[in-house]
Amino acid sequence: MATPALAMLAAAPYATTLAGLFVAYFLVYPFIVYLRDSMRKFPNMSLFSGMSHIPYMILAHGRARSTHLAKLHKEYPVLRTGPNALSFGSVQAIKPIYGHGTPCTKDELYEITAGTHYHLADVIDKPDHARKRKVLSSAYALKNLENWEHKVADKVQRLIVQFDKRCTAPLPKGQTFPDPKDLTIDYRAWTNFFSLDAIADIGVSERLGLLDQGHDRVVAQAKDGTKFETSLRDALYPIARKQSLLVWDYDKYHLIDKLSNLIPYYKKMGDASFYWDAVVLRRAAYRLERYRAGEKLDDFFQALMEDKNGSPNNLEWGEIIAEVNIMMNAGSVTTAIAVTNVLYQLLKNPETLAKLQEEVDGVLDEDEIVASYDKVKHLPYLRACLDESLRLFPPTPQGLTRKTPPEGIWIMDYFVPGNTTVAVSSLVAHRDESVFPDAERYIPERWLGEKGKELQSAFLTFSAGARGCIGRNISYLEQTVLIASVVHRYDFALPCGFEIKREETLNHLLGEMPVKLWRRELE
Ligand code: HEM
Ligand SMILES: *[C@@H]1O[C@H](CO)[C@@H](O)[C@H](O)[C@H]1NC(C)=O
Ligand SMILES: *[C@@H]1O[C@H](CO)[C@@H](O)[C@H](O)[C@H]1NC(C)=O
Ligand SMILES: *[C@@H]1O[C@H](CO)[C@@H](O)[C@H](O)[C@H]1NC(C)=O
Repeated sequence: MATPALAMLAAAPYATTLAGLFVAYFLVYPFIVYLRDSMRKFPNMSLFSGMSHIPYMILAHGRARSTHLAKLHKEYPVLRTGPNALSFGSVQAIKPIYGHGTPCTKDELYEITAGTHYHLADVIDKPDHARKRKVLSSAYALKNLENWEHKVADKVQRLIVQFDKRCTAPLPKGQTFPDPKDLTIDYRAWTNFFSLDAIADIGVSERLGLLDQGHDRVVAQAKDGTKFETSLRDALYPIARKQSLLVWDYDKYHLIDKLSNLIPYYKKMGDASFYWDAVVLRRAAYRLERYRAGEKLDDFFQALMEDKNGSPNNLEWGEIIAEVNIMMNAGSVTTAIAVTNVLYQLLKNPETLAKLQEEVDGVLDEDEIVASYDKVKHLPYLRACLDESLRLFPPTPQGLTRKTPPEGIWIMDYFVPGNTTVAVSSLVAHRDESVFPDAERYIPERWLGEKGKELQSAFLTFSAGARGCIGRNISYLEQTVLIASVVHRYDFALPCGFEIKREETLNHLLGEMPVKLWRRELE
């Protein structure tokens, strides 16, 4: 039996070792990290950003990352947002990071959030991306816009049927704000029904019918084949929300994700993926049944199954499901945000709305209900109103993360080491006053004429280069026809003092937008 004194003697080497470890861990190791830190020169977003991703995760929980970064970037052209991550604040960083021929690739974020199969938006490998893009580009190509136009027109028609039912009497002269009882629509919800109905028809020739039913409950199918009903939006949104809060420490993400499920707040968000996967599986499985039954349908699914000459592409079923997943997701969320934002800006800037209505009225017949795309696609002011709204509040404001090549690259005047995550948020770039003076204001006129055309190279809403949005033209088709049709037919009013709520995930999600609407008097 050891006496206390003996025990102390015996413990001494342990104490020394412990003290040594303590010094090594808390002083020597950090010092070595400091010496080896090739990113030392970059200003830290916050005190600990050079050491940890926690500050960025905390920022994410404020649901306004890019708005916060835009403020910081007024002073700092580049910020270190994590040990291995940089955010750039100038339009000059767009080309080296995203432009055609960039040596950067999508970074690990896309890998760790991917499912069993990559889809067009999250595949990292460049040759594999090129292969996928080729398969789908025939479906998205411009010549197909004519095919998609009647599908879009059909959805606008259905939206208008619903709006007509909810019309109120014109706002009396001299009254600016509507009676609360006249706020008969949540415009944000209806535009989401619109974009979901549209992409389901364009993508898999399915009539989801959200606009007709006025709610978003749809049939879903679990992997074991059981069918059930679920709310489409409640299934779709929580996953991106959870990822945007927790994904930032890539090495630890899977662990963090598992631990987060101990907390009901996060677990609920994660659980939604079961419902979303089932929504997607149902769409794909039903469409496959129709394909096998020999129905000839013109949609994205057809392009996934066969090339233009009818030869089978032989994609794995998992890859097809992944592509249906991203088209239902990227193809609906962003466009719904876009058409909500633009009407909101127009109502906040009545002179702009009046000017737009004058332009649209000039080409549409008085009783024309759904604007024909041919008549409105080249209207310069309409396009300027859309682009200015897409500039001010890009639906996807997140700085889209790219990895520098192993040898490193120059971005603006900075040498960035290899394998570093770099990004430019479109919301931040679009507040670069050297290109967009009075950047916080909604000024469609800046997009007109030759000067307006020059701004396109600084327009990052659809990203840029080889990984730029493939659905851009389809989205403009939807936005143009919908906005022209509704501003031609209706006037709208927002509640007194109304400000729309914004929540940044990957996308800039919007809160409700209650409005009063009534038919315009067109002579
Ligand atoms: C206003 C509407 C839209 C906006 C703001 C938007 C924005 C974007 C952005 C920023 C990217 C790059 C994503 C990244 O780098 O991670 C992207 C890619 C993509 N978008 Fe869109 N998008 C819109 C509409 C659409 C539509 C309607 C579709 C489908 C019909 C679509 C399908 C895709 C796909 C598949 C990609 C991946 C492209 C690739 O990597 O080759 N988007 N979009
Ligand atoms: C940023 O933080 C890192 C790690 O804490 C530190 O080494 C670096 O000097 C800081 N950078 C600046 C410019 O202060
Ligand atoms: C970057 O990653 C590659 C491949 O993973 C590796 O070989 C290389 O050493 C890394 N370079 C730096 C600067 O970390
Ligand atoms: C969109 O249409 C334009 C022509 O207006 C074309 O140059 C461009 O390649 C199309 N973009 C996509 C992504 O299909």
